[in-house]
Amino acid sequence: MRFTVAIDGPAAAGKGTIGRALAARFGFAHLDTGLLYRAVGALGGDPVVAARGLTAADLARDDLRSLAAGQAASVVAVIPEVRAALVDFQRRFARAQGGAVLDGRDIGTVICPQAEVKLYVTASAEVRAHRRWLEVGGDAARVLAEVMERDARDMGRAEAPLRPASDAVVIDTSELPIEAAIAAAVAVVEARL
Ligand code: DC
Repeated sequence: MRFTVAIDGPAAAGKGTIGRALAARFGFAHLDTGLLYRAVGALGGDPVVAARGLTAADLARDDLRSLAAGQAASVVAVIPEVRAALVDFQRRFARAQGGAVLDGRDIGTVICPQAEVKLYVTASAEVRAHRRWLEVGGDAARVLAEVMERDARDMGRAEAPLRPASDAVVIDTSELPIEAAIAAAVAVVEARL
């Protein structure tokens, strides 16, 4: 069976948690596509060369989760040639046998516009910054500023900007416990299966 769940949304909205929960529940493979851009940013050098030569080992680095890696990812993600180099891998993953969940910024709009399920997971910048701050600590105002800076770059870029697909189901987790958000996502997938 081929079945693609596309999950898009801004940083720290809950995409990853929902994506992993859906994958576990339905036995689908899960790809956090942000890791691809984080790995390209972390490799340094020419980002286009890095994106074209990306390996599994690059994705397994343990320094990809930091705020700095997120910012570096967002910077290289505006480069059209970087995005182009990562398209085929993501599309193959999405259409592999057994079903797949991909989370990112452009999955429902660019990578898999034909996905069986499209979710747009969002929350207010303040709520998302607070979640990030609980993980990374430090200066809360700076974490909020970084979240807003990354939103502006991801939503404002010319190539594949972050926005909900016209047929995406929006899940706002600002005031929704994560269990309820997962239940809402499960219901959308079940209705389509
Ligand atoms: O989901 P994340 O925070 O790990 O993503 C890091 C950055 O990578 C994000 O700010 C923008 C970029 N990205 C993207 O442009 N397209 C994707 N599908 C996933 C991530």
